[in-house]
Amino acid sequence: MAYETILTETRDAVTLITLNRPKALNALNSQVLEELIDAFATFEADDSQRCAVLTGSGDKAFAAGADIKEMSEKPAADFYLQDFFARWTSEIVKKVRKPWIAAVNGFALGGGCELAMMADFILASENAKFGQPEIKLGVAPGMGGSQRLTRAIGKSKSMEMCLTGRMMGAEEAERANLVARVVAHDELLDEAMKTAATIAGMPPMAAIANKEMVNAAFETGLDQGIIFERRLFQILTASEDKKEGMEAFIEKREGNWKGR
Ligand code: HXC
Repeated sequence: MAYETILTETRDAVTLITLNRPKALNALNSQVLEELIDAFATFEADDSQRCAVLTGSGDKAFAAGADIKEMSEKPAADFYLQDFFARWTSEIVKKVRKPWIAAVNGFALGGGCELAMMADFILASENAKFGQPEIKLGVAPGMGGSQRLTRAIGKSKSMEMCLTGRMMGAEEAERANLVARVVAHDELLDEAMKTAATIAGMPPMAAIANKEMVNAAFETGLDQGIIFERRLFQILTASEDKKEGMEAFIEKREGNWKGR
């Protein structure tokens, strides 16, 4: 598929996907969705690729939200009958088992904030600004924001952000546990690629299992989550990479992963 609204490149085992509508602050329209789904499916299917980074082009925005101009024309029946926004979750969250990072370089508002929160974690530049301003448009988050933001930062802060539409800067977002780390604006992409390369260098089955078990914490009760973790741990002990990883440690050398 030839892309018009995103850019993709691979650097060794890391796929970089860049939202590329800078004049519209990388607003997320239907074409962006289709292209992102394709790019993530390509990343997932390519055995040479182990981790991805998603960022925004230009200096101002990761993504300033779902495309308001597109949504303004759409009848309510279409939103409902097409189950609008459902595919973001089913295709980009549920089907992607490999880890990926959102590198938030500016505004991450509405659907942009929601897309960033679909990532396994967020790295933010000092200029990042997060918000769910949908209320000002007469709507509300529609791509998981009210749920993921609340799980990340708690009820009080999430409720305040959704009800007032105010933006949260990078430092506050780090304090509130919305982002893993804040880095200097000019260093964001390098740092995200470096972090992704570290993850890409891990045993691949273990990377997927670690992601699955952390995600299980949001879906299950504590007892079930701990059993799920233990079973995955036990499965990993049967892998060739477990044997290699432990031998490599004892022999004081780097592991040479087989991915099995
Ligand atoms: C379409 C957008 C856009 C968006 C910005 N643009 N955000 N186009 N959809 N979400 C366009 C502007 O129309 C403008 O185009 C250009 O990008 C630059 O934006 P400006 O507003 O001129 O920039 P600035 O003054 O710096 O303000 C930046 C901003 C503001 C604070 C981020 O653009 C803004 O508030 N944007 C909307 C944020 C928002 O409400 N997001 C939530 C969307 S709803 P022109 O052609 O005029 O130059 C959503 C729903 C989720 O995401 C799902 C549930 C419904």
